[in-house]
This record gives sequence, C-alpha cells and structure tokens, in this order.
Amino acid sequence: MTPAVPFVDFKLHVAALRAELDAAVARVLDSGWFILGPEGQAFERELAEALGASDAVAVGNGTDAIHLALRASGVGPGDEVVTTSISAAFSALAILQAGARPVFVDVDPRTLNIDPAAAARAVTSRTRALLPVHLYGHPADMDPLLALARERGLVLVEDACQAHGALYRGRPVGTLAGAAGLGALSFYPTKNLGALGDGGAILVNDPDTAARLRQLRNGGQRDRYHHESFGVNTRLDELQAALLRVGLRHLAAWNERRRELAAFYTRELAGSGVEPFVEQEYARSVAHLYVVRHPRRDALAEALARRGIGTLIHFPLPLHLQPAFASLGGRPGQLPVVEQAAREILSLPLYPELTENAACRVVEAVRAAAREC
Ligand SMILES: Cc1ncc(COP(=O)(O)O)c(C=O)c1O
Repeated sequence: MTPAVPFVDFKLHVAALRAELDAAVARVLDSGWFILGPEGQAFERELAEALGASDAVAVGNGTDAIHLALRASGVGPGDEVVTTSISAAFSALAILQAGARPVFVDVDPRTLNIDPAAAARAVTSRTRALLPVHLYGHPADMDPLLALARERGLVLVEDACQAHGALYRGRPVGTLAGAAGLGALSFYPTKNLGALGDGGAILVNDPDTAARLRQLRNGGQRDRYHHESFGVNTRLDELQAALLRVGLRHLAAWNERRRELAAFYTRELAGSGVEPFVEQEYARSVAHLYVVRHPRRDALAEALARRGIGTLIHFPLPLHLQPAFASLGGRPGQLPVVEQAAREILSLPLYPELTENAACRVVEAVRAAAREC
C-alpha cells in the first residue's frame, strides 16, 4: 500500500517541472551530442557560480566526486583519511577507491557532524586528508578543521553531497578551504539538487586542479586517445547535465522551502517527545533531511508506518561497524556518540513539494505515535 505521506515523491517532483524537463531533453536529442558537450560545460559554469566556486567539474556520481577530489589532491596508497563514522558508506568507499585508508572518528551530538577534537586526536604521521561530511544539509564546524588542516599540512575535501547551497559562517560549503581544498556533490535523485539518474560534481578554486580533474574523469586523457594518467571513466552525460540545469534554476527556492518545512516541524513537534536537531549559530542548513531522535526509534517508525507516514534511517549502521570496513578493525563501543545516534535517529518526509496538509499530517502522526511509544 502506498503511504499517505511517502518518504519521497518523485512523481510530484517531475510533474512540477515537466514542461521544463521535456524542453531540456528535446534540446539534447536535437543536438545529437551526448557526452562532454555544451550542456555539461554550461552546467559546470552555472553550478560554480551558484555555489560560490571558481570552477566545477561534473562527474558520474558523488562517490567518484570524492574519490577523484582525493586523488587530484595527491591522496593515495599508504595515506590515512580522517572522516566521520555516520554517513552514506559511499563517503568511505571513495577513500578506499583512492587507495587510502579511512580512519573513523566520533561526532558532535548536536549535529552528528565530525567532532573536530576527535579528528585532531586521530591525526598521525600517515594522515594526509580530512573528509568532513555536511550531514543532513547542516555544515560541519569547519573553523577548527581548517585550522587543523593548516597546522598539520593536510588536504581538506568536504563531502557536501547532502548540502548543496548550505552556508558556514556565511560562506558556501564545498569551497571553505579555498584553493587548498575541494568540495564533492552528489546529484542522486533524492538530493537537494537531484538528477533523474546519477550525477556528481567537484567544486574547485584552483585552475590546475580543475584541469587535472577533467583529465582524471575522462580516462586520464590529455586529448583524444592520449592517456596521460591513470584516470577513470566517470563523465556526467549531456542529458543529465541539461536536466540538472533545470533543477539548478530552482535550487535556491527549493532550499528555502525545505528550511520552512523544517522550521514548521521543529515548532510543531516541541514537547512531543521526539528530539529534533537544532541549527547551530555558525550554520545555514539546507535541510536535506529532517531527522529526529527517540529512545524507542523502531517502535516510533512502526507506529508512523501504521499511520501511513514513510520514514527512513540515515544511517542505521555506523561505518566502523559495517562488514565492508571490517578489515579496519572497528568494534562496538569504539565511537559511543555515533553508536547511540544510530539507535535513535529517524528521518521524516521533507521535500519541496510536500504540501501544508501533508506536513500537518506528519506532525499529528508523530505526536500520536510518540505518545504510544
Ligand atoms: C554524504 C554522502 N556522501 C556520498 C554520497 C555518494 O553519492 P552518490 O550516490 O552520488 O555516489 C552520498 C549519497 O548517496 C551521500 O549522501
């Protein structure tokens, strides 16, 4: 049975944009050009401008954006990359893809973003990079991380896959280390700016790094059939670029709408027994996900499902406990803040097309479900 309020609703999303999307598809079909062409170039320019970077390099997905950002920054075999244990596993898989070793640290309980003090304690002589994730659209506390990177000579790659357009102390995430850092974006369909398929990009503030990334994403080719470096094949195609250009025109309004809905939930759920996350003074979140905590999370999710409200958990199993990373030696109890959060968090439906009625229905259901649990 379809829930009364599903966790996401792509049909609503596409319906709202249908005429613009159809025109974008027709333009690409008529052009007869499908890979690395004018749509991709225009998208890179428009994205960089919208998100405050000097350049953007579009790739096939967010995982490759992180992987190539690390490689273009000189991270490779033998290096350690300090990162959070609560994220999509793809953040850490990208570190492995670059040949390096993820080192998982605990998080700040107020935001579930990487704890800068824990990151500092994890730095060793082998550490080459920091990979903070701006989780749920809320920026990590970057000043101490930027200082740590400067002091210890580390590369800083921001995983901004969930945070297109978020601000840290008024500056856009993904660009906070200037020419010394890179920002990775995912355009997985659920993201604040989503493709109708896979896509990703790297925000860049250094022309040499941008050139290196353009080579790496295209099999390491300097020019056609001359492969200068060990690149990968991860190009954003022209259809997705054209569709993303449509979305980009709406991103600021969508982010505003997400923020409004998040503020509505926070106001209306006060005293309900679920605990929302609060926007920190340094942050302007883009409310990618609306996550609450509850000590009996699984019962709450079931009670909401019975009332027709779709929920998800981001993320139920910390990365240091995932079988994929078992060889790194993670053990239960190692990162207590992450582990407790993973037992308590629940994401409620939040997307720009969510109607007032649907949002009210979610609030009523959460209040009633929390009373039952
Ligand atoms: C925080 C984070 N990092 C990385 C990724 C990977 O992005 P993609 O699925 O586009 O490879 C995602 C999305 O899945 C994500 O949410």
